[in-house]
Amino acid sequence: MRILGLESSCDETAAAVVEDGVRVRSSIVSSQADLHEPYGGVVPEIASRAHVERIIPTLRAAMHEAGLTWSYLDAIAVGHRPGLIGSLLIGLTAAKSLAWAGGLPIVGIDHVHAHLYAGCLETQPAAFPALGLVVSGGHTATYLLESPTRLQRLGATIDDAVGEAFDKAATMLGLDYPGGPELDRLAEAAHHLGRDERAHTFPISRLKPGSLDFSFSGLKTAMLYAVRGRPGPGGSFERDHASLTVQAKQDLALGFRRAAIDAILLKLDRARKKLLRDGREPRSLLVGGGVSANSLLRRELASLADRWHIDLRLPPMEWCVDNAAMIAGLAHHQLAAGVADDLTLAAVPTTAC
Ligand code: KG4
Ligand code: ZN
Repeated sequence: MRILGLESSCDETAAAVVEDGVRVRSSIVSSQADLHEPYGGVVPEIASRAHVERIIPTLRAAMHEAGLTWSYLDAIAVGHRPGLIGSLLIGLTAAKSLAWAGGLPIVGIDHVHAHLYAGCLETQPAAFPALGLVVSGGHTATYLLESPTRLQRLGATIDDAVGEAFDKAATMLGLDYPGGPELDRLAEAAHHLGRDERAHTFPISRLKPGSLDFSFSGLKTAMLYAVRGRPGPGGSFERDHASLTVQAKQDLALGFRRAAIDAILLKLDRARKKLLRDGREPRSLLVGGGVSANSLLRRELASLADRWHIDLRLPPMEWCVDNAAMIAGLAHHQLAAGVADDLTLAAVPTTAC
């Protein structure tokens, strides 16, 4: 079964053709990072306009790269939640038009759920039950998956998502937009220079004993104070990032990255222990979302998978960040499970996962 997937939930316009849920025949991602860079964050109206301009060329490019004509498609899949409403509507409208014109089924996919599927593309089917981890700019959560389509949330962030914390910390350090990868690069350079991760330690959020939830706002505040000093009575700070040496920035990036990733590993360990207590030993670990591109997280997850004897599904870089291959791939399983939508499918700002 060949499915054309569309993704436009935030600032990437993407289209992909995936066969039988695994074989990625094409995957096109048009990033808008350059448009939002001057504002230091995604501007919803700019994002929607760019999606309008890019959606048709992007889906045409995906069909061209796949070497297919429209008549070879079996279904249209679209990320219809969560995201910026104006952005979601562009992909959704294009998907409905294609489905209607081609008389094809339409499948609405939850973007957060799709991130968990990214590591199942171009490889053998994963074994279930599986433990899932989504670490993105908008979400940070763990899941128990009984199959690619059936999942239950175990824990989630009570404040910021980890990607958001990375981005804000990077801004505080005066790094370029988008900040998460830049902060990772700075920390990685320091790591290769042999600098000490404990030169500057940051708090690791634990929450109450046994809690599976995450919190990153304290870590963000710790970075603010480390860079700018304590706020004075009028709310003004002692200094800004311009007064920091390169070495000081490296130490802060290293320490911040270590605390953020350790917090994720801690909650992953707690989630697995809970599943073991419930007699649901996970056979796979499905990881997705932009922060799964983080160098330290990738190294730590690889060694953790060795220790746990679990099949780690860590997507290659191109499928860590937003893409449509994960949308089209998951849609195959949704259709196989008999779940399809119709032209009344709505755009929804929140996740169902
Ligand atoms: O999944 P994604 O592309 O979009 C959302 O669904 O949110 O994730 C984007 C997030 C951004 O916050 C970005 O800074 C972060 O992923 N990110 C990283 C890295 N690469 C992307 N964070 C830390 N280290 C990285 N290497
Ligand atoms: Zn995403």
